[in-house]
Amino acid sequence: MDSSVINSAIQYIKTLFQNNSDGHDVQHTLRVYHNALLIAEIEPDCNLFIVSLAALLHDVDDHKLFRTENNANARTFLSSQHIEPEHIDYICDIINSVSFSKNHGKSLASIDAKIVQDADRLDAIGAIGIARTFAYGGKCGRTLEDSVQHFHDKLLLLKSEMITKRAKEIAELRHDFMEQFLREWDKETAQG
Ligand code: NI
Repeated sequence: MDSSVINSAIQYIKTLFQNNSDGHDVQHTLRVYHNALLIAEIEPDCNLFIVSLAALLHDVDDHKLFRTENNANARTFLSSQHIEPEHIDYICDIINSVSFSKNHGKSLASIDAKIVQDADRLDAIGAIGIARTFAYGGKCGRTLEDSVQHFHDKLLLLKSEMITKRAKEIAELRHDFMEQFLREWDKETAQG
């Protein structure tokens, strides 16, 4: 695996996300990358180089943050690293299949895409998921109660959507922690 390309990707996202602090920041991307490496350890059929680049670039064209079309940021970066065009297309396919809500519920074709999707979803649950939900809710002007509702509407459903073995194991622990948090929340906010 060409680690100089991976290092360049890390530098690229650090520059691109330097002004974001709502949970879609560089730390989110680095956690997703780390999750992807953990999941990939027990997935012998994956392409680790592809998985790494797709994880690192999965939010660089996020429509909530950037007004790019056709994965322009990812394509520009990958071209600058002399990645072959068919690999660029494949990496962008993975990114598009995991990062947009319109793909919700569609089954993913490759193990590489499954790993990156699970890695991203893991970062939405557990202690980090709790912190991100309130940070994002605050930015959007939501009340704490609205953010808590988001756990019931979405985050508590993610455990059952994990595809890979290791992500399922990690999600189990993170899910339990969120339930513990919600029990405590209910206790502390109960009237009388
Ligand atoms: Ni993400």
